[in-house]
Amino acid sequence: MIRTAIVGTGGIAGICHVPALRAQAHRAEIVAAVDVDAARAEAFAAEHGIPAVHTDLETMLREERPDLVHLCTPPFLHADQAVACLEAGAWVWCEKPVALSLAELDRIRAAEGHAVAGAVFQHRYGTGARYLRDRIAAGTLGRPLVAQCVTAWYRDDAYYDVPWRGTWESEGGGPTLGHGIHQMDLMLAVLGEWAEVRAMAGRLERDVETEDVSTALVRFENGAVATVVNSVLSPREESYLRFDLTEATVELRHLYGYSNADWTFTARTPDVKWDPPGDVPSSHTAQLADFLDAYEAGIRPDLGRHTMELVTALYKAAITGLPVRRGEIDTDDPFYRSLNGGLPGVFR
Ligand SMILES: NC(=O)c1ccc[n+]([C@@H]2O[C@H](COP(=O)([O-])OP(=O)(O)OC[C@H]3O[C@@H](n4cnc5c(N)ncnc54)[C@H](O)[C@@H]3O)[C@@H](O)[C@H]2O)c1
Repeated sequence: MIRTAIVGTGGIAGICHVPALRAQAHRAEIVAAVDVDAARAEAFAAEHGIPAVHTDLETMLREERPDLVHLCTPPFLHADQAVACLEAGAWVWCEKPVALSLAELDRIRAAEGHAVAGAVFQHRYGTGARYLRDRIAAGTLGRPLVAQCVTAWYRDDAYYDVPWRGTWESEGGGPTLGHGIHQMDLMLAVLGEWAEVRAMAGRLERDVETEDVSTALVRFENGAVATVVNSVLSPREESYLRFDLTEATVELRHLYGYSNADWTFTARTPDVKWDPPGDVPSSHTAQLADFLDAYEAGIRPDLGRHTMELVTALYKAAITGLPVRRGEIDTDDPFYRSLNGGLPGVFR
């Protein structure tokens, strides 16, 4: 059995990670829960029948020797905690955003040895997304031309009462990093490598340090172009992806997860069909099955650097007002260390 531990027993841990692990009960067991809030950890362990409870990650790593740690803590803790797990020999499946900067992400990668780390990006793993990628790879939908990538969500003032939200230091960024990253990750999974970004961002409504909205234009290596919107100010909430290819338009409308019914297919000619095999919804459950296959095969999972590069470039383009090409943000670039490029007051 794969001995797993859940670190951070808040919202996402109970809603998504426990069910995902229960679906893998034939090969994974939850041996420990960790939270700095002892009462929360105790209640979580009691509810889910988890034998050991800890308030300190290092102690848990030493005493429980887990094979795999699910990191479900606030974003600013991920890098240090991931490194601690890797150094203790445990694999890591880390919630998004894995890191607050490319520098942090690379620090995690550098700590890998026998144990490695991967990112939670559950929307890549539903049947619809896998099928679309296969169809594009097979060339049966033609060439990707135009895309729209919209995360139009709503987060009220009370949402930002949670102390780690809304600041560069602890959330790392606004909806570009924290919310829209899922849709952008899926867009990249479908369209491949990006080449250039132009962007605007601002803080229009919420009392936060970071942006509360961003927009961007992205050109891909394959020539396709996309518009991107990341918002926490949109009363009618929606996650929307649209791909116009030479032979069909493929659209996905959902909010936090999709099944086959959320996809719309419009072919240019009647002979081009959309017929996905089965219907696995996008979910932590779907991704964890893949992740544990990788664990058992000793294959390094994806830490999401390509997506973090796009996010970082979007901030740099918005803050500098200049286009950003993939690869130009090297380790000397101020945006490598922080998504505000060293200008924390930029949106205030
Ligand atoms: N994949 C998704 O769709 C998705 C959805 C929601 C949240 N998330 C991500 O999951 C992570 C957690 O979000 P959440 O909404 O569950 O937050 P949360 O605030 O509900 O839970 C975080 C928990 O971490 C605990 N914690 C804080 N410091 C700790 C420490 N040093 N050691 C151990 N525990 C500690 C807190 O006490 C809290 O119980 C964030 O990175 C968030 O972006 C991902």
